[in-house]
Amino acid sequence: INTKAYRAAILHSLADPAVVGVEQSYEYFEDGILLIENGKVAQVGPAAELLPKLAGVEVQHYRDALITPGFIDTHIHYPQTGMIASYGEQLLDWLNTYTFPTERQFEDKAHASDVAAIFLKELLRNGTTTALVFGTVHPQSVDAFFEQADKLNLRMIAGKVLMDRNAPDYLTDTAESGYAESKALIERWHGKGRLHYAVTPRFAPTSTPEQLELAGKLLGEYPDLYMHTHLSENRKEIEWVKELFPERKGYLDVYDHHKLIGPRAVFAHGVHLCDDECTRLAETGSAVAFCPTSNLFLGSGLFDLNKLEAHGVRVGLGTDVGAGTSFSQLQSLNEAYKIMQLQGKKLDPFKSLYLATLGGANALYLDDKLGNFLPGKDADFLVLDYNATPLMSYRMQQARSLEERLFALTMLGDDRAVKETFATGVSVHQREA
Ligand code: GUN
Ligand code: FE
Repeated sequence: INTKAYRAAILHSLADPAVVGVEQSYEYFEDGILLIENGKVAQVGPAAELLPKLAGVEVQHYRDALITPGFIDTHIHYPQTGMIASYGEQLLDWLNTYTFPTERQFEDKAHASDVAAIFLKELLRNGTTTALVFGTVHPQSVDAFFEQADKLNLRMIAGKVLMDRNAPDYLTDTAESGYAESKALIERWHGKGRLHYAVTPRFAPTSTPEQLELAGKLLGEYPDLYMHTHLSENRKEIEWVKELFPERKGYLDVYDHHKLIGPRAVFAHGVHLCDDECTRLAETGSAVAFCPTSNLFLGSGLFDLNKLEAHGVRVGLGTDVGAGTSFSQLQSLNEAYKIMQLQGKKLDPFKSLYLATLGGANALYLDDKLGNFLPGKDADFLVLDYNATPLMSYRMQQARSLEERLFALTMLGDDRAVKETFATGVSVHQREA
């Protein structure tokens, strides 16, 4: 047995604060031990209790540091890494001006491999160990991504974009070719190591009803596939969907009609959902990815977290890079807090922790494997450094409670706060001294 212990302050979510109340939602050990055996969590608890039982086990001690479960990013585009921070447009013009020309380059497998390596490094630098990832329309973009993720033994979910209309010719497939190429990728990658496949229609406007129908068919042909798309992000987008699908009740109904909703279906954004759509998402076990930095950057709108919560919809946190402006889920939480403030609402720091970890695992139906430190879960975790910057260090000295420290971490933290990242108990990123 391969055993190692990590000693630091340790914090993890146990449940959604909105359901059980903040006090019951987490567990914290001021001086804790996280014991890892063969890439899985064996035990977590106070050092005073566990250390005496660990004779002969190597213990790595981090001072002024907080260990948390790895962050989970429930919506991100790896091909858009190089176009992050592109100026001046809202969604539909942003797609035509920047996104489509950028994605064209992924026809070249070597380019795709280069970007996949940069992307994964950036995720790990930011403490994100699992993500639900868009490729491009090119199947080789997904091969490139999965090859790199597999080498690092990361739990990753990705898929080839399906797009057979309303996009440049150089970036479209057909209903049939999209189906066949997706199927080949599923056969090659789905369930290999820690990898999972997501059937990925870009969004309703870029697929014909025939393509959506075949996407639904594919989902029925393999167990535990994901479905990943965009939904109700931008007002002009929603109007366009109504024009393209006049026979449907609304945006979500387009996906519903083609059997694209249910467990493991993840819809990015959901900024402008009506009550009926929230009800339908909840009753089908579908999830929404809340993407704060993207929603502000593209001027899409203010996500109503409390409304989705009240309907019982599963919600994860997404960066949505390259429309999102940071790979850091700490920065996503910073902007999430401000989005709530602009609506006269609060975002409790322990809810923030939940969104970035166990809530994401729950949205992805991976909470049996990820999201906290219950015994048997994958040992994906990170070490946050309270002394990451002079300001962070000073603010942490002033803080009198865990709640205050956690909140300051989410407001001031970014990649600099991530000292080390682990996947299956193996160190996959160490910040330079
Ligand atoms: N809707 C359709 N495609 C995209 C995309 O690439 N990014 C975002 N943010 N929204 C989309
Ligand atoms: Fe997106």
